[in-house]
Amino acid sequence: MAKISWKPGTMLFPLPPVMVTCGTMEKPNVLTIAWTGIVNSEPPLTYISVRPSRHSYNIIKEAKEFVINISTLELAKACDYCGVKSGKNTDKFKDMNLEIEPCEKVKAPMLKKAPLSLECKVKEITHFETHDMFLAEIVNVNVDDRFLEEDGRLALEKAGLLAFVHGRYYTLGRDLGAFGFSVDKTKENKTKPRKSKFWDIVKMENKIKDGTLKIKQRKKHHPSLDKSLSTKKTKPKFSKKFNKATKK
Ligand SMILES: Cc1cc2nc3c(=O)[nH]c(=O)nc-3n(C[C@H](O)[C@H](O)[C@H](O)COP(=O)(O)O)c2cc1C
Repeated sequence: MAKISWKPGTMLFPLPPVMVTCGTMEKPNVLTIAWTGIVNSEPPLTYISVRPSRHSYNIIKEAKEFVINISTLELAKACDYCGVKSGKNTDKFKDMNLEIEPCEKVKAPMLKKAPLSLECKVKEITHFETHDMFLAEIVNVNVDDRFLEEDGRLALEKAGLLAFVHGRYYTLGRDLGAFGFSVDKTKENKTKPRKSKFWDIVKMENKIKDGTLKIKQRKKHHPSLDKSLSTKKTKPKFSKKFNKATKK
C-alpha cells in the first residue's frame, strides 16, 4: 500500500452543498455553493467562494447580504438543479417548487424547507484567480421547528443532511458519538450514538427515485435501460426484515 502523489487540486471532502439565497423576496435568486465554511466563532464568521460569472455574484456584491440554507435529502434534487441552472435564464424557485420566506436581519429570503438558514452580512470580498471569497458575519440563525426536540435540542440527524464528495452527493447516516467521545468515557449518555435514521433516509431516497418520471419515459425508447432502471430495484432490500425488527 502506498500513497500516490497527485497534482495540487481542490480535493477537500466532504463539503456541504448549501443553497445560498440572495436578492429580495420580490426578486430572489438561489445557487448551490460547496465552497463554504466557518472562519471565526465570536463574531460568527463564514465565507462563500463565488465565481464572478455566476448570476448571483453581482446580486450578492451589491446587496452585501446572502442566506446559507442547509441542504437535505428532501432538497437534494433542487440543490443539484440550483447548481446547474442559472437564475439569468430561469426561475429556479418556480422550477423546483421552492418556497421562500422573509428573514429577520437581511432582505434576502430563506428557503422554507431548509432545517437551518443562516442570515449573512458581507464584511469583506477577497479576489482570487477563479473565485471571489465573500467573508460574512452570521447575523441571525433560523431553525426549523420540525427538527426541535421537546428539550429544545436541534435534531439535525433527522433532516437527512447532504455531503458533497468528489462530484457526488451523499446523505449523512450514522452517529458515532458526541464531541470529545475519544477521551471522555464518563459522559456515557452524551456520547452514546443516536438512533440511526438510515431507513427513513432509504425510504426518502426511494421516493425521489420513483418520482423520476423522465427515466420511466425513457424506458420506452431504450428497452435495455428497462432492467437497470427498474423501480423495483430501488426498494430497500431488507424492508420486510426491518419492519419486523421495528415492530418488536
Ligand atoms: C454541488 C455544487 C457545488 C457548487 N459550488 C459552487 C461554489 O462553491 N462556487 C461557485 O461559484 N459555484 C458553485 N457551483 C456552481 C453554481 O451553483 C452554478 O454555476 C449555478 O448555476 C449558478 O447560479 P446563478 O447563475 O443563478 O448564480 C456549484 C454547483 C454544484 C452543483
